[in-house]
Amino acid sequence: SRSIRLAVIPGDGIGPEVVAEGLKVLDAVSGDLTFEQTSYDLGAARWHRTGETLPDSVLDELREQEVILLGAVGDPSVPSGTLERGLLLRARFELDHYVNLRPVKLFPGVDTPLAGVATDDIDMVVVREGTEGPYTGVGGVLRKGTPHEVATQESVNTAFGVERVVRYAFEVAASRPRKSLTLVHKDNVLTFAGDLYQRVLKRVGQEYPQVTTDYVHVDAATMFFVSRPQRFDVIVTDNLFGDIITDIGAAIAGGIGLAASGNVNPDRTAPSMFEPVHGSAPDIAGQGKADPTATVLSVAMLLDHIGEGDAARRVEQAVSDDLAERAALGARSTSQIGDAIAKRVSG
Ligand code: NAD
Ligand code: IPM
Ligand code: MN
Repeated sequence: SRSIRLAVIPGDGIGPEVVAEGLKVLDAVSGDLTFEQTSYDLGAARWHRTGETLPDSVLDELREQEVILLGAVGDPSVPSGTLERGLLLRARFELDHYVNLRPVKLFPGVDTPLAGVATDDIDMVVVREGTEGPYTGVGGVLRKGTPHEVATQESVNTAFGVERVVRYAFEVAASRPRKSLTLVHKDNVLTFAGDLYQRVLKRVGQEYPQVTTDYVHVDAATMFFVSRPQRFDVIVTDNLFGDIITDIGAAIAGGIGLAASGNVNPDRTAPSMFEPVHGSAPDIAGQGKADPTATVLSVAMLLDHIGEGDAARRVEQAVSDDLAERAALGARSTSQIGDAIAKRVSG
């Protein structure tokens, strides 16, 4: 039997609620797989108590884990960006999560707000860059609070960083039936960064003659997400564009409560971190209203990452079966949904 060191960061708002259900399902699917869990008290409460977001000592402990499950961070009582940058982005950057993997897939029986769209029409994977772009924190503010304040926020893009995420996206595209990869950027305005992505796409693409590539500006991409989602198979894009289009992706594929993600370190020099795409949802926190499905699907991605593909497929199937019957079941609480999926997984 195999034992895996799993770090759990429940975080804020609905984070702990959905993580509890994710762990329930993980427990149900485990079999002779065991998870040695360590839960980390990070987020708003810790910050209020100690001023810490992600201390070096905790980061060092996380490095020793094999994989991480995160709920969500961010709270209205904490200045915006404190936890998002200090905890979530710090973890992604320090653990070199250069691939932010975000599948956008419509499950059978799930409602999409798009008219005339069949289940198979929405099935894409967004490979979002995770360690560069406008997220690095490069920039600053001059003459703050004056009428002449200047705020700059640079987009940092390196040949090394772009090549590794583009290469990963080609691998994903090559593994899928359609073998199509779309670069989404804004190369008509962000000419330096866009051109770097374009050249890298062309160069790396020579190693993947079986993959067709094309390019779509990000503004047009948001339009195609809602007008013709079947246009996309695999997308590679920068950190900020990827953030934005995957919320649209979530909306067209049944809602933010279903959207899963992985912050992946493909070189395995540090643990990867799996989390729902959504945030801490302060508006519904503590009411048992949060949909834990995104977290459960993130658990499936986690299982895939650690080489437990069979377990991952069982979790996905259980979710798919649950989703197919949802419309008929009426409103259920967070834990009722978790229980139902866990029960299906146990057989
Ligand atoms: P959000 O995703 O938390 O909420 C947006 C809307 O979606 C809200 O109406 C919320 O109730 C709903 N929603 C989200 N998850 C849901 C679920 N599982 N089930 C049902 N409904 C759900 O985004 P926001 O409101 O922009 O941000 C709230 C806080 O979360 C902010 O502090 C933000 O910085 C943070 N945030 C964190 C992450 C993360 O930890 N990865 C991601 C996004 C936002
Ligand atoms: C996400 C979130 C984060 C991001 C924030 C909270 C830093 O929106 O995971 O999508 O922008 O990456
Ligand atoms: Mn986001």
